[in-house]
Amino acid sequence: MPGKKIDIFDTTLRDGEQVPGCKLNTKEKIELAIALEDLGVDIIEAGFPISSPGDFNSVREITKVIKRATVAGLSRAVQKDIEVAADALKYAARPRIHTGIGTSDFHIKSKFNSNREDILQRAIQCVKWAKNFVDDVEFYAEDAGRTDNDYLARVVEAVIAAGATVVNIPDTTGYCLPHQYGEKIAYLVNNVPNIDKATISCHCHNDLGLATANSIAGVIAGAGQIECTINGLGERAGNTSLEEVVMVIKQHHSLGLYTNVQSQKLNPMSRLVSETMRMPVQPNKAIVGSNAFAHSSGIHQDGFLKDSQTYEIITPEEVGAGGSKIVLTARSGRSALAHRFQKLGYQYTRNDVDVLYQEFLQVADRKKEVEDDDLHEMAKQYKQQTVE
Ligand code: KIV
Ligand code: ZN
Repeated sequence: MPGKKIDIFDTTLRDGEQVPGCKLNTKEKIELAIALEDLGVDIIEAGFPISSPGDFNSVREITKVIKRATVAGLSRAVQKDIEVAADALKYAARPRIHTGIGTSDFHIKSKFNSNREDILQRAIQCVKWAKNFVDDVEFYAEDAGRTDNDYLARVVEAVIAAGATVVNIPDTTGYCLPHQYGEKIAYLVNNVPNIDKATISCHCHNDLGLATANSIAGVIAGAGQIECTINGLGERAGNTSLEEVVMVIKQHHSLGLYTNVQSQKLNPMSRLVSETMRMPVQPNKAIVGSNAFAHSSGIHQDGFLKDSQTYEIITPEEVGAGGSKIVLTARSGRSALAHRFQKLGYQYTRNDVDVLYQEFLQVADRKKEVEDDDLHEMAKQYKQQTVE
């Protein structure tokens, strides 16, 4: 595999599960964790163990069945949280404690009524405490997207010195523009002396629809991990969508990056999460939406039928989607109609199609989508007319 490996940290079971109505029970979480491991993700954030006894139990049970992937548990920068996370992870083959604190002035002043020096010390202490239980400690600087870069660099340097193996730079509010997020990561790469001792992680939210773009900007600037969720589920407008970042990296070889995710499992995984979390996927969602490989206008259909690459940059097979679809609507052209009639077994000349197309437009203007049954009916009537 050429290039640099990007670790995929899936947080569907933690940040994704924070979506109202998406709460999962232990059995559901275990089923999804097994599917995520099978998909090829490197780290599964299984939950926030101190948040409830049910979540503690889910994290614990997940560690008993997941053997290849790292299992992470979230905690605040609070001793008790860290101890409970360590306890929940005690059977894990590869445990990681994910702990941290808000570093932006919004968080420092409004949430903690504190100051930068105090927060810096609390950051160091939480990493040191977590190191008593596990080797792999990830530190998150919550709201790093709105944190002053100089201060963020001091925090990152200090937590790495305290033993953090991964430093997470969340754009918690989805505020950054891609070039700003990329510059933030580049700033850390260039200004934190011990940065090569840890992996930088991108954790982006989608409030402005920029989570995928920001995560990609982050890995281009030197980050080595992306935190993401299936179908982009997550707080408010959601998190970076796993299927999107994986396919951006796979499509753009020039980035020199790769992941271990098996792309042909993306659509089945998306459906499993959607059904289990009772959260439909928007039809126009990239990679996994029901329209991601559907062509409806005449110009597109004609181009696609001549060469699928004219309008598809990914094959449906590559991402485990059923196949491309030609949808017949009032915007469709003759070539799509002829193609569908041929698929249904009718041998029509160009002249036949010209006549049938007029009838087709009448039906299509009445209905949103013309179905195969409508075409059979048209064919029946056309036969009667031509016999008469
Ligand atoms: O968005 C965020 O900042 C988070 C942290 C808790 C990692 O989810
Ligand atoms: Zn988050």
